[in-house]
Amino acid sequence: MKRSPLASEVSFTVVTLFPGMFDGVFGESIVGRAREKGLVKVDFVNPRDFSTDRHRKVDDRPYGGGPGMIMMAEPLFRAIRDVRSREPGGREPWVVHLSPQGRRFDAAVAAELAAKGRVVLVCGHYEGIDERLASAFDDEVSIGDFVLTGGEIAAMAVVDSVTRLVPGVLADEAVQAESFFPPAEGSCRLDHPHYPRPRVWRGKKVPAALLSGDHGRISQWRSRAAAAATRRKRPDLLRSKEES
Ligand code: ADE
Repeated sequence: MKRSPLASEVSFTVVTLFPGMFDGVFGESIVGRAREKGLVKVDFVNPRDFSTDRHRKVDDRPYGGGPGMIMMAEPLFRAIRDVRSREPGGREPWVVHLSPQGRRFDAAVAAELAAKGRVVLVCGHYEGIDERLASAFDDEVSIGDFVLTGGEIAAMAVVDSVTRLVPGVLADEAVQAESFFPPAEGSCRLDHPHYPRPRVWRGKKVPAALLSGDHGRISQWRSRAAAAATRRKRPDLLRSKEES
């Protein structure tokens, strides 16, 4: 698979009933700095603001019975239509439904989204959303085979991992050296171990090769250590590479 060039800037719109959940996560650290530098933009749309109901209702019981409430189609539909109509002639937004039934999020999907440049993340809540809304989405993504109480934590994970790929957010070497790089060639190898100061910590030494100052030796040690870490912790990655 050929990798698309990454967009120089990525903008996200998160469609969520709970925008306050994102305050700390998107205000701090690397995502916070990327937003300050204008490399990443994030805004929020609340489907409740698009409810046609006097009580701003957004959920209802499912026909046929069963536990829990389902998000109604109309408020979400209007919210997505509003987001899609905002930039006529601009970058076409790629609208992603976060759901445990979606395709599995990984480094390759993160790179795909980073290349889109304009991503809308729609967070479901309660027991799910009205199935008739399915055609409003371009994509459905899950962060793993477990069920969260809503898509918000999944959206945070997606924004965080896509942000790291935007040029200028991290040093290029940091992205290229990490686990699962290059993403489009399959998630083939974990990162090598890292050792900051001190040289000896509670009797545990930094491997001699890393102190040698010999770049050839250092990169050979790192490459072997990465392969060993992959064999030990994630042998499935090696198997899936051999199979492909
Ligand atoms: N919403 C609920 N569970 C989810 C998951 N595993 N991934 C993405 N969105 C979700």
